Amino acid sequence: MSAALSASLYDRVRRVVPPMEWAVFAPDVEAILRLKRERNAVILAHNYMTPEIFHCVADIVGDSLHLAREAQRVRADVIVMAGVHFMAETAKMLNPGSRVLIPDLEAGCSLASSITAADVRLLRERYPGVPVVTYVNTSAAVKAESDICCTSGNARRVIESLRTPQVIMLPDQYLAANVARETGVKIISWAGSCEVHERFTPAQIRTLRAGNPGVVVLAHPECPPEVVAESDFAGSTAAMADYVTDRQPGRVVLITECSMADNIAVLHPRVEFVRPCNLCPHMKRITLPKLRATLETLTHEVTIDPAVADRARLAVERMLAI
Ligand code: 13P
Ligand code: SF4
Repeated sequence: MSAALSASLYDRVRRVVPPMEWAVFAPDVEAILRLKRERNAVILAHNYMTPEIFHCVADIVGDSLHLAREAQRVRADVIVMAGVHFMAETAKMLNPGSRVLIPDLEAGCSLASSITAADVRLLRERYPGVPVVTYVNTSAAVKAESDICCTSGNARRVIESLRTPQVIMLPDQYLAANVARETGVKIISWAGSCEVHERFTPAQIRTLRAGNPGVVVLAHPECPPEVVAESDFAGSTAAMADYVTDRQPGRVVLITECSMADNIAVLHPRVEFVRPCNLCPHMKRITLPKLRATLETLTHEVTIDPAVADRARLAVERMLAI
């Protein structure tokens, strides 16, 4: 890579990546940029990717909702999901003509692994006629059993669009409780949780406020309701990023995965970021060397049984239509 290109890429992340680390990253960044052109490939990256992925090799970045919308629109031979498996599956069902790759097949999600398609069928038997809303953080097989999907970015709108007094909302018990409080709809939920967000506590938020006067607390709605209640704002990762962009708080803390603050911080030098956070071990499986290997070898391809994909796609498309 030319020195000028390396310098301009490093400029994007210099506030969070030390020069010695950049020296390690640069060869992979260069190879990935070249391979993307050769393969006619596009990298979709979630907000929880590390800054060198997020700012230096990704083509499209965002929350789960944005990545789903963009996966539907992308025209490329190859889509590489720099995110977790359910995101790659969603991209595949919305863009069946592209080859969808994920750098590590083990990049899962505690929510997605908390529920099976058989569980959803049993719930339907138990609550006949009650609509099933499934969080996108689920397998394609679970989505196929549901009426409509939602993300943290549109959960309230999706629930309200159903105009029923009661819904089954799976599998995140905390997102369900947070949405129930916002909408007044009776929600039958599931005992799933995000292993990253469930670890935050109200006491932690109070300690943060005491130690950081004036700090604005933004929480992800996968956090327990008591944590959301202690926060100033709750929203998807994109909503948190928008909050910082629009309101430029002097001091902010993001109650979510660690890379999120790094990725936003580089864009807002005047905002002070207080940094307690939890790492998602699944998201952190995606690294520059694995992204490079994915593009070199065109592995690991994500496929979905067509019968399952057709039904799952309907649930996702209903969501995107809202
Ligand atoms: P969003 O980016 O949709 O807010 O989701 C967060 C998350 O945990 C994805 O795994
Ligand atoms: Fe799943 Fe939580 Fe990791 Fe997101 S942050 S992928 S919800 S475990």
